[in-house]
Amino acid sequence: MNPASTPILAYHMHADLDKILIDRERIARRVAELADEISHDLRDITARDELVIVSVLTGSIIFLADLIRRLPQKLRIELVGVESYPGRATESRGPKITRSLAGNIEGRHVLIVDDILDSGGTMRLIRGELAKRRPKSVRACVLLRKERPSAMETPCDYVGFDIPDVFVVGYGLDYNNYYRTLPDIGTLKEDAL
Ligand code: IMP
Ligand code: MG
Repeated sequence: MNPASTPILAYHMHADLDKILIDRERIARRVAELADEISHDLRDITARDELVIVSVLTGSIIFLADLIRRLPQKLRIELVGVESYPGRATESRGPKITRSLAGNIEGRHVLIVDDILDSGGTMRLIRGELAKRRPKSVRACVLLRKERPSAMETPCDYVGFDIPDVFVVGYGLDYNNYYRTLPDIGTLKEDAL
C-alpha cells in the first residue's frame, strides 16, 4: 500500500518511511491465521491446566492485543521487560531483563509472544528464565522473523512473516521509541534514522 493512499488517517509517520513491507490488512489476516493455528493446537488445555501468555515489552504490545482477542481459551497474561536496543541503536547490544515475570508458571502451559526474531537473543534469554520456573510446556510465537541464520535457527513454533534482514518499524516495533503506533510495518528512510 502506498503511504499516500492510506484510507482513513494520513499518519504523519508515513513521511519517514522508505517502503511499507506489510500493510495493516495483511497483518490482520495473518494474525487471524496464527490465532486459529494456536487455538487449534492448544484446544485441549483446560482452565485447570492453565495457559499463560508471556509477552515481551514493549515491541509486542500491539501484536499481543490483536492476537489474544482471537484466542478463545481462558488465560492469564504476564509481561516481561527486555531491552536490547537502547535509544537510537538499530543493532542489538545483547538483551537484558528489565522487568521479570511476576506470576507463577509452574506446571502451566506457556506461550511466549514477541514482535520479532532478530539475533534470537531475547527468545533464548526468556526461554532460559522460564525453564527455571518449571512450566509444563513452552511454545513461542513471533510476528516477524528476519531472514538471517541466527533468527532462522532459533526455535519458534509460530511465525507470522519472514522478512529481509532490514530494520523495520510499525505495529509495535520502534526506532528510538517512535513509530510503534503506525498500523503498517515498513523501513525508514536513511534521513529518519
Ligand atoms: P533479538 O534479541 O536480536 O532477536 O531481538 C529481538 C528484539 O529486538 C525484538 O523483540 C525487538 O524489540 C527488537 N528488534 C529487533 N529487530 C528490530 C527491528 O528491525 N526494528 C525494531 N526493533 C527490532
Ligand atoms: Mg522486543
